[in-house]
Amino acid sequence: MNHSITAAKATQAQPSLEAKLISKSFVSGIIRIQVLNRLSISIMPSELSLITGPSGCGKSTLLSILSGLQSTDEGRVIALGQELTQATPRELEAFRLQHTGFVFQGFNLFSALTAQEQIELPLGYLGLSKTQSRERAFAALQEVGLGHRANLRPAQLSGGEKQRVAIARALAKQPKLIFADEPTSALDAISGQIVIDTLHRIARNHGTTVLCVSHDPRLIRHADRVLAMEDGVIQRDWRSGSSSLDDVATLLTEGQH
Ligand SMILES: Nc1ncnc2c1ncn2[C@@H]1O[C@H](COP(=O)(O)OP(=O)(O)OP(=O)(O)O)[C@@H](O)[C@H]1O
Ligand SMILES: [Mg+2]
Repeated sequence: MNHSITAAKATQAQPSLEAKLISKSFVSGIIRIQVLNRLSISIMPSELSLITGPSGCGKSTLLSILSGLQSTDEGRVIALGQELTQATPRELEAFRLQHTGFVFQGFNLFSALTAQEQIELPLGYLGLSKTQSRERAFAALQEVGLGHRANLRPAQLSGGEKQRVAIARALAKQPKLIFADEPTSALDAISGQIVIDTLHRIARNHGTTVLCVSHDPRLIRHADRVLAMEDGVIQRDWRSGSSSLDDVATLLTEGQH
C-alpha cells in the first residue's frame, strides 16, 4: 500500500468520539467535587487511545460519559456523529446496544456459562438468530485465540483468558466503539500485555475506536495515543512513536521490573 495515501487518509479521518468542554461534579454531603472541568477530547477510529491519570482523577467518570452511561453537567458529547447530550434515555440505550462494547477490570462473566455461551447471550438482544449468534461468537473467540476454550466455564480459565472472553463478547457485537476500564488491573504482566495487544489489534483490524482508561503505566507502550488526565482536564496528549512518549513510558515503568 502507498504510505503517503495511508497517511493522507489518517489525517482526513473524522473523530469517532468527541467531548467539548464537558464538566461534571458530584455532591458528597456538603462538599462538591468537580471531577471534569471543561474537558475537551477528540478520539479517532482504528486507534487504541489510552487515558491515564492518578486514582480518583475521573477516568471512569469520563469513560461512562463518553459511552452515554452518565450525563454531563455542561458541554457536549458527540459519538459517531450523534449528540449523546441531546439523546433521550431510550435513544441512549439503543446507541449503546448497537454501537458499544465494554470490557471491565472484573471480567463480568457468568459463572454458570461456557465461554461460547457468554458471548452468544448478548447477541440475541441484537436480533441475531441462534445459528448466527453461534457462528459470530465462535469467530470472536477464535480471533482472541480462545477457539479451543469455547466449552470451558470461567472457573476453568485463567484471569487473562477470562478477560479475552470478555473482549470477544464485546467484539462479537461488531461495535464501532469499545470502552475498556482498567482491563489489565487484575492481571499479571504477561496476561495484561496479551490483553492490551488484543485490544490494539481489534482497533487496527476492524477500524474500531478502542478507548481504554488505566493507571497502569505498562500499557503506555501498547497504545497509539496516550492522554494524561489530571485536575479535571487532559493535560498532555502523546502519539506513539514520538520520542516524548517513549521517554514517559521509560520513566513510568522504571523500577517496576
Ligand atoms: N456516583 C458518584 N457519586 C459521588 N462521587 C463520585 C461518583 N462517581 C465518582 N465519584 C467521585 O469522583 C471522583 C472521580 O472518580 P472516578 O471513579 O471517575 O476516578 P478514576 O480516575 O476512575 O479512579 P480510579 O483510578 O481509582 O479508578 C472520585 O473522587 C470519586 O469518589
Ligand atoms: Mg476508575
